[in-house]
Amino acid sequence: MINGNKVLFSGMQATGSLTIGNYLGAMKNWVALADEFECFYCVVDMHSITIRQDPAELRRRARKLLQIYIAAGLDPEKSCLYYQSHVSGHAELAWILNCFTYMGELNRMTQFKDKSAKHADNINAGLFDYPVLMAADILLFQADVVPVGVDQKQHLELTRTIAERFNNLYGDVFTVPEPYIGKVGAKIMSLQDPARKMSKSDENPNGSIYLLDDPDTVARKCRRAVTDSEGMIRYCAEQPGVSNLLDIYSACTGKTPQEAEKEFDGQGYGVLKDAVAESLNAILQPLQKRVAELEADKAYVDRIIRDNAEKAQYYSTKTLRKVQKKVGFPERPRIK
Ligand code: TRP
Repeated sequence: MINGNKVLFSGMQATGSLTIGNYLGAMKNWVALADEFECFYCVVDMHSITIRQDPAELRRRARKLLQIYIAAGLDPEKSCLYYQSHVSGHAELAWILNCFTYMGELNRMTQFKDKSAKHADNINAGLFDYPVLMAADILLFQADVVPVGVDQKQHLELTRTIAERFNNLYGDVFTVPEPYIGKVGAKIMSLQDPARKMSKSDENPNGSIYLLDDPDTVARKCRRAVTDSEGMIRYCAEQPGVSNLLDIYSACTGKTPQEAEKEFDGQGYGVLKDAVAESLNAILQPLQKRVAELEADKAYVDRIIRDNAEKAQYYSTKTLRKVQKKVGFPERPRIK
């Protein structure tokens, strides 16, 4: 609990460009939850280097992501928006938790298997240890809830296991976090392959609409979206491409997919695609404008980054000192 509120922690990687899937599926939920919880939304740049990154590019993207958090509607004076690498406790707690996590547990992680298959030339210890750093992120703030997509559920389960194991040995140190699977978090699929989730790491840029795509690009990608030859607009499993477009449209407009289906009854696919593009641009245009303003206001963003790093450092240190004591580290002298 912080200030009488339950704590929420979540994070995103700054690798690749954010898509409307990240926004409609996750970030929009984050904004809705920000009133209900004491929130920590982290840019997890330490996780990013488990895959080789261009340093300048990583720095640029990480700052952009933080600006997008703000532009999407998160209030940086209320929610703690910060970089993982600015808060030393993440790495320190991860080390301790490493000693309470078994190789066998990490070996079972499906994301590790997927990523090591994809990056066979760089299967580093950090990639293997990724879930422990994630557990440290969450437990460091005694988070009660963690909004995650289904692909991260296994990591959250492991976090709970580690927390419970530690608590069984040392008493109630960690809050055992619950996953928060969004009620409304639309699952947005690729425009080119509606069987696959829209992903920021997709090689085909036409499958994804990026948050920073300009209106013409959005319109072009929508027009190229894969549909079918049924010639009807129905929200059903047999028409995954059309249904995905209806999902996007309803997530943007606040209508239900069934209402959207009705609205386009008897219309051609072109009409639907143009309407989807329009509803997307109505969200993306103001968001991009805000990002540009933040880009221009360096002093403001720098202050937010500093203040929030300080806030995160403060709360994380509370947990960290408790944990260090429990495992037998001597009390620290005051060091400047
Ligand atoms: N691994 C998450 C992802 O790739 C990002 C992440 C890192 C995270 N630490 C976290 C998410 C803690 C929730 C809580 O999506």
